[in-house]
Amino acid sequence: MAFKIEVTESKVKAEKYESLLPQIVALIKNENNLIANLGNVCSALKYSFESFIWVGFYLKCEDNQDELVLGPFQGRVACTRISFGKGVCGKAAESKKTVIVENVDEFTGHIVCDPMSKSEIVVPVIAEGEVIAVLDIDSGEYSSFDDTDKKYLEMMIENIKHIFSEK
Ligand code: SME
Repeated sequence: MAFKIEVTESKVKAEKYESLLPQIVALIKNENNLIANLGNVCSALKYSFESFIWVGFYLKCEDNQDELVLGPFQGRVACTRISFGKGVCGKAAESKKTVIVENVDEFTGHIVCDPMSKSEIVVPVIAEGEVIAVLDIDSGEYSSFDDTDKKYLEMMIENIKHIFSEK
């Protein structure tokens, strides 16, 4: 069945998230394949916000617990492996906290994948106290992300994270 995401045309970010999040929950409701669902979540996010140039998940490696490996994403090709503690993704994974970077050039250790990226947010996915993945979003504009993105993206992750145990 085709599923169409329609997000409120609004300059107010919170209104867009309010409109998008229930649609994302509905999008994954009748499917239990992790790859399919993560791919669709990335697409729904990327095409709802004009400034988003890369949206993807990095998943904790099964063979190396201190490493993330590239999962489903939307955007240009990206680095495949990131160690915990390295780059923005690794920092979020290590700290178990969302990291917002207003200007990627000012973040020591930032890993460049798409040179068009100007700012970034990484939200960890935590299950039973352990990071199992991170959601990484890159924007083509500086200072794209703030506490509103953090609030709604963390809420989204809470609402969809059951899919990680359905694979
Ligand atoms: N910039 C990220 C690497 C992943 S790409 O942006 C897709 C980082 O520093 O962890």
